[in-house]
Amino acid sequence: MKFLSVIVLSLAGTALAKGNNKAKNGTSTGATSTKAQCRQVAKLTELTTLAANQTLLDKVTKNNATRAAAIQAKASAAATQLSTLESNSTLMTACDQIFAVDAMEMACGKMARLEKLQEVVANQTELDKVTKNNATRADALKAKASADASELATMQSNTTLTAFCSVQQTMEDCKSMVKLQKEVAMAANTTELDAKFKGNQTKIADFQAKAAKAQTKLTAMTSNSTLTSMCASLKSATGASTADAAASSASSSTSANAAKSGAAGSAVQQGAALAAVLFAGCLLLL
Ligand SMILES: *[C@@H]1O[C@H](CO)[C@@H](O)[C@H](O)[C@H]1NC(C)=O
Ligand SMILES: *[C@@H]1O[C@H](CO)[C@@H](O)[C@H](O)[C@H]1NC(C)=O
Ligand SMILES: *[C@@H]1O[C@H](CO)[C@@H](O)[C@H](O)[C@H]1NC(C)=O
Ligand SMILES: *[C@@H]1O[C@H](CO)[C@@H](O)[C@H](O)[C@H]1NC(C)=O
Ligand SMILES: *[C@@H]1O[C@H](CO)[C@@H](O)[C@H](O)[C@H]1NC(C)=O
Ligand SMILES: *[C@@H]1O[C@H](CO)[C@@H](O)[C@H](O)[C@H]1NC(C)=O
Ligand SMILES: *[C@@H]1O[C@H](CO)[C@@H](O)[C@H](O)[C@H]1NC(C)=O
Ligand SMILES: *[C@@H]1O[C@H](CO)[C@@H](O)[C@H](O)[C@H]1NC(C)=O
Ligand SMILES: *[C@@H]1O[C@H](CO)[C@@H](O)[C@H](O)[C@H]1NC(C)=O
Ligand SMILES: *[C@@H]1O[C@H](CO)[C@@H](O)[C@H](O)[C@H]1NC(C)=O
Repeated sequence: MKFLSVIVLSLAGTALAKGNNKAKNGTSTGATSTKAQCRQVAKLTELTTLAANQTLLDKVTKNNATRAAAIQAKASAAATQLSTLESNSTLMTACDQIFAVDAMEMACGKMARLEKLQEVVANQTELDKVTKNNATRADALKAKASADASELATMQSNTTLTAFCSVQQTMEDCKSMVKLQKEVAMAANTTELDAKFKGNQTKIADFQAKAAKAQTKLTAMTSNSTLTSMCASLKSATGASTADAAASSASSSTSANAAKSGAAGSAVQQGAALAAVLFAGCLLLL
């Protein structure tokens, strides 16, 4: 059931991602403006909620009635705009997807932070390093980790969330690999190095030393065949569904916008890619 809902979510995201391309000259098209509209919906909803809640209003304005009245006037002026946006059910459905993906991305970040904290308090070496050997701070961290433990356990037992986060992590790993590959290729290309560093041999040597480290990391990642085949599936799936992914995987450095929206991995694209990876993941398990 939970897996099903992740897939439903991602498939809905696929439709959005198709319209989420930016023209090469940076003109927004389709779902880019949908996203902007959803952000607007979120903003206006927040304003309306604030204006309707005296307790909250007092807190935010520090009991300043003048400022409270100004917020209420703004909310009242925004009401028409909000109800117009809300009357568009296509838009609202899209926004629900976008907000759900955003929320899950935030939850993944939180889960990762909580996991890191558990790891730190369980490892004296790391704990000493993080607290600079201050026992008071170490105790405070331990107390925090202990207080957060049950929230972490709840998150870790949510398979919808863990499936989503694992896909997101894989996508990040795939992106890192592409970046490392580019760095390694560039370090071997004298023409490109000379152009980038204007022939400064010190800078070139520094870059090559860094690229040697990148190569080590890349080799380790490439040796993980699960990861490489997931990246390959992801590339072909997103390449088929979005022009962005095709543009960025073709490593065209001129297409800055395509690279940006491809690399930033917009929420809806991640939703689309999620389906692709889950699908690939299922194939691998068979
Ligand atoms: C950008 O490209 C779109 C689609 O090709 C075109 O309609 C628009 O006029 C262009 N805008 C600019 C500022 O060049
Ligand atoms: C108003 O805001 C306060 C503070 O955030 C919250 O506790 C309360 O539930 C809100 N009241 C309503 C009716 O939403
Ligand atoms: C309330 O806010 C207004 C507008 O920001 C400000 O001019 C006024 O001094 C504030 N009143 C108090 C009592 O802080
Ligand atoms: C409703 O929203 C969608 C998605 O943003 C948009 O394509 C469509 O034009 C909107 N419809 C109306 C009537 O505004
Ligand atoms: C503890 O952390 C150190 C430094 O990050 C690491 O080298 C070591 O392997 C960790 N020990 C365990 C048991 O995880
Ligand atoms: C340890 O950390 C606490 C809390 O941050 C601080 O008050 C205290 O001065 C620190 N002790 C030392 C020895 O640095
Ligand atoms: C699991 O996580 C998803 C996404 O964050 C959330 O919508 C859902 O309510 C969670 N389920 C449970 C049982 O907590
Ligand atoms: C080196 O970089 C230049 C400029 O980007 C490119 O034209 C050339 O094909 C590259 N050479 C190799 C061997 O990749
Ligand atoms: C080359 O770069 C190094 C390190 O950034 C710098 O110190 C040095 O002055 C540069 N040499 C030339 C000839 O520009
Ligand atoms: C290989 O990659 C997969 C997918 O990202 C990951 O789950 C797994 O832990 C990796 N295996 C190793 C040995 O790092």
